[in-house]
Amino acid sequence: MGSKPRSLSGIKPTGTPHLGNYLGMIKPAIQLQETHETFYFIADYHALTSMRDPKQLREHTYDLTAIFAALGMDFESHAFFRQSDIPEVTELTWILSCITSKGLMERAHAYKDAVSKDQEVSVGLFCYPVLMACDILIYDSNHVPVGQDQRQHLEITRDLAIRFNHLYGEVFVIPEAIIEKNIATIPGLDGRKMSKSYENVIPLFAPEKQFRKAIMKITTDSKSVEESKDPETCSVFALYSCFSTKADQEALAERYRAGGMGYSEAKQLCFEALNAELNEPREIFQQIRNDQSELDGILESGRDKARAIARQVTDRVRSKVGL
Ligand code: TRP
Repeated sequence: MGSKPRSLSGIKPTGTPHLGNYLGMIKPAIQLQETHETFYFIADYHALTSMRDPKQLREHTYDLTAIFAALGMDFESHAFFRQSDIPEVTELTWILSCITSKGLMERAHAYKDAVSKDQEVSVGLFCYPVLMACDILIYDSNHVPVGQDQRQHLEITRDLAIRFNHLYGEVFVIPEAIIEKNIATIPGLDGRKMSKSYENVIPLFAPEKQFRKAIMKITTDSKSVEESKDPETCSVFALYSCFSTKADQEALAERYRAGGMGYSEAKQLCFEALNAELNEPREIFQQIRNDQSELDGILESGRDKARAIARQVTDRVRSKVGL
């Protein structure tokens, strides 16, 4: 600890993670272990804005812990924990809420979206960005790897931190987002962006057979085997590209253009490339997912590391504001 910058991110336990989550956030976050001290957490307080099923919330929490374990997170040197194991974050949320203008929250995309769809908006959903800002600020985080959809939340976080520092003196580190730009548009089964709400996702650790079947279902145009095909507009090619070297991508692009290769062959190659990367983690996942005491141990050690920092930062804030 100490000399490396700290990277922090959170992921909501609201569903089974899919390839879009993996490429957009999980994989880059895990890679940052090399250059950063990393703090990653399961955003279960945030999940409560949309989830009402306690059993599922618990199951998804263990799923995510096992996923990070399977993908090589080093829990000795880094911290992985539950958001709700650090109650200080809700205390800080109150304090920060008191310097947050309602207008700023009204401009947040998630809130505006819900309003435009006539959905019921809870106070929790309305204040979601303040809690998220506190998740970040409470650990003196330097870098926050997130998907493109979280850009605005990071801007709000910075705004609030700057405002607080301006009012009370330098307390918070001003964090920076790390956003994987080309990863924002992982195509789903139907060619649209892979997203739970479009029901077009490929689960990260589906059993191999199911995984292959999902890839075989990806929508393509209806060109025959002989015809020349355009790799640039093909979802299969786009997915393959996320799991292969530049040289392999060029080789496959060449075969697309030349004609003589059908989409089912391209899909098979795509499946093989994905499977080469995910097969071993999938097996580790299945083992560790069944070992509840191991998973509890991971979360407890993460909690202890995270809470120590959260206490320091919260104490700093309490003393600055006069509590
Ligand atoms: N809002 C994020 C999402 O929906 C999850 C999240 C909560 C988060 N708190 C965070 C991400 C703090 C980064 C940092 O994916």
